[in-house]
Amino acid sequence: MYASVETSDASGGENVRVVDFRSDTISVPTPSMRRAIFEAAVGDDVYGEDPTVRKLEERTAAMFGKEAALFVPTGTMANLLAIMVHCSRRGTEAIVGENAHGFLYEQGGAAQIAGVLLSTIRNNPDGTFCLNELARKFRGFDVHEPDTVLVMVENTHNMCGGKVLPLEWLEKLATICREKGAKVHMDGARVFNAATYLNVPVSRVIISKNVHSSDLSHRLATVCPGEMEAGVVDSSGKGIAVKVSARDWTFARIVVYTNITDEEVELAIKKIRYVIKEYEKDL
Ligand SMILES: Cc1ncc(COP(=O)(O)O)c(C=O)c1O
Repeated sequence: MYASVETSDASGGENVRVVDFRSDTISVPTPSMRRAIFEAAVGDDVYGEDPTVRKLEERTAAMFGKEAALFVPTGTMANLLAIMVHCSRRGTEAIVGENAHGFLYEQGGAAQIAGVLLSTIRNNPDGTFCLNELARKFRGFDVHEPDTVLVMVENTHNMCGGKVLPLEWLEKLATICREKGAKVHMDGARVFNAATYLNVPVSRVIISKNVHSSDLSHRLATVCPGEMEAGVVDSSGKGIAVKVSARDWTFARIVVYTNITDEEVELAIKKIRYVIKEYEKDL
């Protein structure tokens, strides 16, 4: 428990205006929130029959650009679940900033319940950490070592003063983790603050909508019904599939050579513009 400080004066507190900055966790529901809670339709969630929980999960999944969402009552539980999902074997390792809530304040649940080793990395004052150091910390190349399978970040970062992680840093971190075959978990207790500060949709903050050239090349080569309706077709009404070479996630190579006609170049441009617009909607 945190120590509590009395706020009063000689009048016994009558002349004291309390402005409480201790934590956002002090906040309580507004009257309209209380009314909504009171009036919410409820049901048996085990049978998938709680319409309010279902609506919350569906709406959340859509906002975050994810296949599904799961409602859990606390942030600590959400972090533990993520650790247990991503570190599917006991004895695996997760790297986490030394000032992360998940390391400092969650009762060592990763070790206690999930059997996962947390390896800390020094946090910079802005909530980030050194990505070169991160790349060096991965283990599992030797039978004596645990496999590093997860990296955890916190956004906004509580102990670093509510700092918002830069998108560019997150993208570089995601690249390293992808290359190492590790997953990333974001403790997003205040992720909507980050989205508001950056003025981007929350799905952008959680790195779920990075456009990788392999995704892009796959999408370019696929003809979806929506684009046919939007008129992304050739002169005979056929959909356009564009093949590009994507060697790794950093670039897609598009080479124009002698067999390619001007018409094909125009069709490819039409298709690429359409697909890029699709990605931009999600950014
Ligand atoms: C960054 C962060 N993660 C997780 C939690 C844990 O949330 P809960 O208290 O709902 O378990 C908190 C709580 O303040 C937090 O600040």
